[in-house]
Amino acid sequence: MMKHFINFDDFSNEEIKTIINKAIELKAEHKTGKINNLMSNKTLGMIFDKSSTRTRVSFEAGMTQLGGHALFLSEKDIQLGRGEPLEDSAIVISSMVDMVMLRISSHKDIELFANNSSVPVINALSDDSHPCQLLADMMTFKEHIGEISGKTVAWIGDGNNMCQTYMQASKVMNFNLKIACPSAYQPNKNFIKKYSDSIELMTSPPDAAKNADLIVTDVWASMGQEEEQNQRLKDFDGYQVNKKLMEVANSGAIFMHCLPAHRGEEVSAEIIDGDQSVVWDEAENRLHAQKALMLNLLG
Ligand code: CP
Ligand code: NVA
Repeated sequence: MMKHFINFDDFSNEEIKTIINKAIELKAEHKTGKINNLMSNKTLGMIFDKSSTRTRVSFEAGMTQLGGHALFLSEKDIQLGRGEPLEDSAIVISSMVDMVMLRISSHKDIELFANNSSVPVINALSDDSHPCQLLADMMTFKEHIGEISGKTVAWIGDGNNMCQTYMQASKVMNFNLKIACPSAYQPNKNFIKKYSDSIELMTSPPDAAKNADLIVTDVWASMGQEEEQNQRLKDFDGYQVNKKLMEVANSGAIFMHCLPAHRGEEVSAEIIDGDQSVVWDEAENRLHAQKALMLNLLG
């Protein structure tokens, strides 16, 4: 049966672990220069209506490394941007490529595309979630600390798409997620209800950071929220991940951020550039995790 990767919890714990183990294997192979042509003659279509560095480079390089090809389709350049219906675009594009990755704002539109696609569809960031980033984050946690099951993760800052994907991951991967957000910036209510068993919501960053093995944050103003930047700078005062906050966490705790980061806002330079930060491995792991994901989706 054809599978899509639109929500992190589309996959079971076992499936995610299989993908992560494969990603670790592919990473080791890549470092030794081993050639792998498992995607030979395969094409990935990549539709973007927002900017990207990591997602675009990792998917494109990943396809090249597997012997396939990736097509960058900016919404501005294809007829979708001129009003061609999403359903029609999905039927046509999926009749020509083997997989489609979409970074488009509306999560519902990614689902609509998938419902009309004859090939697997990957969510490469919507306003609701960013499951590919969580694959890389879970892989990075495994490499640095080990199994995440039973561990404690603290999310500090905006209850945004990344936070909501951590909520999904907490259920699938069985970790405790403590979320500290200003009350006006909590995750979507449906997410809070759905994932209530594995999350704790609070407003105090030190309360969330206590006993945490991983501290994660993200920008205070996501793509599309640029006009709210000044207001958000005020509203998130006190939510910076800095040395004082990291000291509240477990002694071996690590720091993650999906990037791009704003040093001096959601995280201090000392922390993101310091010993506890694993952000460069986290970014690189997008490549390996998505190669494993694509191999999994194509069976
Ligand atoms: N983390 C992430 O998705 O980065 P990009 O926006 O650069 O793709
Ligand atoms: N929350 C951020 C994540 C970027 C990778 C955004 O949506 O812009």
